[in-house]
Amino acid sequence: MPTPPNPARCSAVVGLQWGDEGKGKIVDLLAAEHDAVVRYNGGANAGHSVVVQGQRFALHLIPSGILYPGKLAVIGNGVVVDPWKLCEELDGLASRGVDTSGLVISDRAHVVLPYHKLEDAMREDLFQRVSQSRDSVGEADTGSVSSIGTTRRGIGPAYADKIHRATALRMGDLLRPEAVKANVSVALALKGPMFRALVSDEQPPGINAAEITDAAIAVGRRLAPLIQDTTDLLHGLLAQGKSLLFEGANGTLLDVDHGTYPFVTASSTGTAGIGVGTGVPTQRLTRALGVMKAYATRVGGGPMPTELHDQTGNTIRTRGREFGTTTGRPRRVGWLDLVAVKYAAMINGVDGLVLTMLDVLSGFDELRVCTAYRVDGRDISRFTPDAPTLARVEPVYTTLAGWRDAIDGRRSIEQLPDQARAYLAFIERFVGVPVRIISVGPGREQTMILS
Ligand code: IMP
Repeated sequence: MPTPPNPARCSAVVGLQWGDEGKGKIVDLLAAEHDAVVRYNGGANAGHSVVVQGQRFALHLIPSGILYPGKLAVIGNGVVVDPWKLCEELDGLASRGVDTSGLVISDRAHVVLPYHKLEDAMREDLFQRVSQSRDSVGEADTGSVSSIGTTRRGIGPAYADKIHRATALRMGDLLRPEAVKANVSVALALKGPMFRALVSDEQPPGINAAEITDAAIAVGRRLAPLIQDTTDLLHGLLAQGKSLLFEGANGTLLDVDHGTYPFVTASSTGTAGIGVGTGVPTQRLTRALGVMKAYATRVGGGPMPTELHDQTGNTIRTRGREFGTTTGRPRRVGWLDLVAVKYAAMINGVDGLVLTMLDVLSGFDELRVCTAYRVDGRDISRFTPDAPTLARVEPVYTTLAGWRDAIDGRRSIEQLPDQARAYLAFIERFVGVPVRIISVGPGREQTMILS
């Protein structure tokens, strides 16, 4: 097992692409040297898979640090929690012998209720119908109404209710039956007409205020021992000199402000989300690692300049097992887009890169990396998160030599083929940030710590 880098008081691990960069494995690795692992954004839309001693664990809500006995795993206030999914995840881990006693949930984290998931699905279905009917009459896609291809986990509607305020429920509210009853009934009074207007015969809403209220109170009772003021807890840990590891979910290009809006998730996915989503000021960070795959993937709708629709894309998808941890959807696959990664590194202020899935690229004669975009006959080196503009750009590629041999058994950078080292050096130079960790497979041991 590799030796992790020097301990740091507050570290962040964030994704520099469209999610699924392999953050879970890196968080799992770094958790060893931190006292607590803290989630600050997103919800059960995220999917982190970690392989420990040959066993694969797929986590959605629970921070990856839970796989270390005795570590604190904190779900911060910025996360939206589906309490039933959380219980499923807890039960699943317990049935595999994982000690989950280190889990703590913020009383201020918002609750994802069944009607949020229904709303998410109905909105997606409606937008899909609108785009299909537009396609069938040959109308141009103006980009005004489009299906985002969400995970349908209720994430957007739960965050929207958080901003609406009056009808939202926080985890702490689940312990107050009267609040649950009042908020659920008002929320459904508001949402009911929309559900009734949109429902089709095949999809009855199955939404009943009394049933949801009872279920929410019951799940709150079960989770009560875990719910607390995590902001206070985290500042208490910092005061004792303990180290915290912040685990970003989703990816920077899916950030609600800095991503390819509207094809984004509903939270602040980068380092800027840490202050908002935990109450620990972002300036407490002593290191920020940006995780990126050696190529690009995206799930759901939205522009992806380097997307491959050919056999090369299929090969990478199959080798990289590029199917969603949360939804099982095949991921869109493309060559590495360094224009996008450089932008994401800038937004997050990362001081180190973590390159994952490098092993997947073995066996290609040559590899392409996108180093500029061509728009209206001009080459630009700047990333634009503006979706309609990004949809029009043509990638400009630099071609690098590939390598033949499998590298998943290599354990140090010196053992990598020259071409693989040249690929790394090219990334470092282009992004202007050093590569600190390389991953050549899902196992903890398939990791090279450089600095
Ligand atoms: P939502 O987060 O379910 O609302 O989905 C919004 C967009 O973000 C969709 O394109 C999803 O596929 C994408 N998305 C959300 N979470 C993840 C993730 O963890 N990995 C990859 N894509 C994600």
